[in-house]
Amino acid sequence: MAFLSNEEINNIRSSVSIVDVISDYIPLTKKGKNYFGVCPFHDDHAPSMSVSETKQIYKCFSCGATGNVFNFVMDYEHISFIEAVGKIASKAGIDLNFTTKDKPKKNSNLYDIYELTNKLFQNNINTKQGAEAISYLKKRNINEELIKEFGIGLSLNKHDILTNLLLKKGYSYEEQLKSGLVVKNNYGYQDIYFNRIMFPLEDMFGRVVGFSGRRYDDVKEYKYINTMETEIFKKGEILYNYYRAKDIARRKQQIIVMEGFMDVIRAHSIGVKNVVATMGTALTKENVNNIKRMAKEVILCFDGDSAGFKATMSAIKEFEQANVIPKIVLLSDDLDPDDYIIKKGAESFLNLLKNPINVMDFKLRYLKQGKDFTNSVDVASYVNEVIKELNYLNDDVLKELTIQKLSEETNLSQDFIKSKIQTKEQKPQVIEKATTTKYNKYEKAEQNLIYYMLKDPEVIKIYNRRITYMPTSKYRLLAREISYFYKQFGYINIADLISFIKDDKELIKTIGEIDSLDLKDNYTKEEIADYIKVIYEYSVVNEIKRLKNQMKLETDSIKKAELGKKIIELKMRSEDSDK
Ligand code: UTP
Ligand code: MN
Repeated sequence: MAFLSNEEINNIRSSVSIVDVISDYIPLTKKGKNYFGVCPFHDDHAPSMSVSETKQIYKCFSCGATGNVFNFVMDYEHISFIEAVGKIASKAGIDLNFTTKDKPKKNSNLYDIYELTNKLFQNNINTKQGAEAISYLKKRNINEELIKEFGIGLSLNKHDILTNLLLKKGYSYEEQLKSGLVVKNNYGYQDIYFNRIMFPLEDMFGRVVGFSGRRYDDVKEYKYINTMETEIFKKGEILYNYYRAKDIARRKQQIIVMEGFMDVIRAHSIGVKNVVATMGTALTKENVNNIKRMAKEVILCFDGDSAGFKATMSAIKEFEQANVIPKIVLLSDDLDPDDYIIKKGAESFLNLLKNPINVMDFKLRYLKQGKDFTNSVDVASYVNEVIKELNYLNDDVLKELTIQKLSEETNLSQDFIKSKIQTKEQKPQVIEKATTTKYNKYEKAEQNLIYYMLKDPEVIKIYNRRITYMPTSKYRLLAREISYFYKQFGYINIADLISFIKDDKELIKTIGEIDSLDLKDNYTKEEIADYIKVIYEYSVVNEIKRLKNQMKLETDSIKKAELGKKIIELKMRSEDSDK
């Protein structure tokens, strides 16, 4: 599928309507000739995204997100361009198999093995031999509905069931070993999992890529056994429950992060479904990026013991690196979210969730641990640690409030604390609002010229003849891209141009910016000539400036004279273009 031609990609694109596809994800309302909806790519409540049926593109007036149907699906589902093309193709009923025929999809056997294994485990738990496992789960308040929803299964107390099944289905031992579900030992090939309750671990698309198997005899040793890392299972990339949680999280613009998948299942069971867990590992950058794409508000709800406390602190650091300031829910009595909900009730948990504490309050508590406030050495080290955190903080209000608190706690004056804080450059905001920049006349001319280049090949031809250099780099790149596209395909169309550009987000945003100018449909030759003249004048003016500077520095009088001549020529040429 990676070998689709541009024509094939464009055919797939034009076989669906962008309005239909986006409507499957977010509600759209028609206003005038365009459709509008709430942009899912930044935090918003107003319908700032417009979708054009005629141009087959979308644009957000607030965050600038722009694209065709593929970009929308890519960004919404966190998938690659080619996966998005595949999705749209299947929606349109276009069979892409002919292109995949001789190139088997990478790792497809691994996925198949996991799917088959998952079916086996799910089947097992419903047999007579699953009774004990079911009763263990019931004891833990995991009912049949949850068992089904999370695909919980059972590996039986025999060491060769899976390996035999896989062999029968045609998977070689080599492939079985590669899947991490089978080992080779003194007894031959044996299943890794036997007599455990099996929790399937799914990737971003809901495909099973691993398992965690829990013993159900209440012995703590080897409580869970996770599948080893394989080509398709990278612990640091997986977030448990991601694919079930992502849409809800996006709608709520809030995502809750927990440590254990039992915690997630419990939260889900009381209706808190915008929740994910890491796989028993520290939060990775990859995790943070995926979480950040789902929702603006991130709430950490780790175990209430000291390990959880510590893990929360490191998670906060990881989020701060990514410019996200998370909120924190602290659980009492060393409880994890699962135990908390069972012991203290759903209501109590939901209340905590409604009032998470801010990151600085958490840090104050964290840093206070083990310190004796009657001892000035302890107080001093506490103050210094808090000040260090304040230096990082990118939220002025929170900073001020924390300074107040710290002053109350320590009796140091606010002014003193402030004097210790280094002011530093603000980090860039996560979401840049589209700026209402004032453009100079050159930029305006470039924008207008490109606007009509996108509409009419005649203008592209004029550009090709007359312009060699656009002053502004983003417009220069875009104009070249348009010219190149036209040379290749002999037509111009915004949506196909966007497919052609593929993943240069900035360039695609520039298309959105230009398209938003909404200039009148018809242009006159004179107007185009005018834009050309202004752009041309800019390059001449710049060149003259450059030559004049050079002349100033030149000591050789002959060379000086040559430069002077060039300048005069340029001046005459620019006057020519006035005519
Ligand atoms: P916890 O020990 O907090 O498990 O480990 P839990 O969620 O409370 O599980 P229950 O309630 O005892 O059944 C949190 C996470 O750490 C990983 C798992 O991913 C688990 O969800 N873990 C834990 C392991 O991988 N292996 C273990 O032996 C224990
Ligand atoms: Mn637990």
